[in-house]
Amino acid sequence: MATRSETDTTGLSRLIQARDGMRMPAFGIGTWHMGESTSRKAAELASLKLSLELGVRLIDTAEMYGSGGAEDIVGDAVRGRREQAFIVSKVMPHNASRGGTIRAAEASLKRLRTDHIDLYLLHWPGSHPLGETIEAFETLKASGKIRHYGLSNFDADAMAAALGTKSGQKIACNQVLYNLARRGIEGRLLPWCAKNDVAVMAYSPLDQGRLAMKPGLKDVAQRHGVTPEAIAIAWTMRQPHLCTIPKATSLDHLRANIAAASLSLSAGDLAALDADYPAPKGHQPLEML
Ligand SMILES: NC(=O)c1ccc[n+]([C@@H]2O[C@H](COP(=O)([O-])OP(=O)(O)OC[C@H]3O[C@@H](n4cnc5c(N)ncnc54)[C@H](OP(=O)(O)O)[C@@H]3O)[C@@H](O)[C@H]2O)c1
Repeated sequence: MATRSETDTTGLSRLIQARDGMRMPAFGIGTWHMGESTSRKAAELASLKLSLELGVRLIDTAEMYGSGGAEDIVGDAVRGRREQAFIVSKVMPHNASRGGTIRAAEASLKRLRTDHIDLYLLHWPGSHPLGETIEAFETLKASGKIRHYGLSNFDADAMAAALGTKSGQKIACNQVLYNLARRGIEGRLLPWCAKNDVAVMAYSPLDQGRLAMKPGLKDVAQRHGVTPEAIAIAWTMRQPHLCTIPKATSLDHLRANIAAASLSLSAGDLAALDADYPAPKGHQPLEML
């Protein structure tokens, strides 16, 4: 399993395209809960370094994770090879005023020890007017400190309203909870984003390690010679505007997950997964973790 993904990086280099000319790797690695404990730091850094060595080209982080500790580890991981990584980070809503967003981004850049963030997101909707946050994103973009910007945990109506604000037209991504067990966005948000050229970044693609491994999932995994987790991850990147960011500190998990990037699920595979994890009927409010 690991051998194939380590020799074939075609899938890992696949890019998805979205608004504002953004081209973003379809497979990345998440960092929530990294940087929280000094005893785990070496393992977390090893995982991020190995992911880059194996060809993973996107790292998702946030000022919130480990209160900046995760960004600090990402900074160590990309040292000397910054150009290999598309870095995504996020501003917390309570910092997302016009000035606060700029200060938060500059603090993130310092921890990341880089001069730019590739994609900068508002972590979830907050009380500062979105227009102010977007104006700050524009200022950061004009100065080259961020390349693109987007949102996270925004449902379909909120996305439509956001795209309607000044500069909202450049919102390139919405990062949301999406996995086999939580398919609520398929009702409205997913088709809306596809139609409006907004990339959807699926977070918690393994439901934080709690995804139930049902028989159909195991069968599909057996057919492809990969783990059920790799199939679950591949499913979250099965459409051209979907991108996925599983987190793995264990190197075995990382190697197994990377296989997802090179998988192509057939109509039969998708039907088997639908039978185990049915799509929702109609609109469901966006869940968030
Ligand atoms: N925007 C937001 O509000 C938001 C919310 C949640 C997450 N996120 C982002 O999305 C990323 C991914 O989501 P997540 O970390 O919540 O959950 P996840 O990626 O669904 O699951 C991570 C958990 O699954 C385990 N795991 C990974 N690969 C495995 C495998 N092959 N077999 C068995 N277990 C495996 C990991 O263990 P080990 O670490 O021990 O390997 C970890 O405990 C986050 O890290 C973060 O960057 C964003």
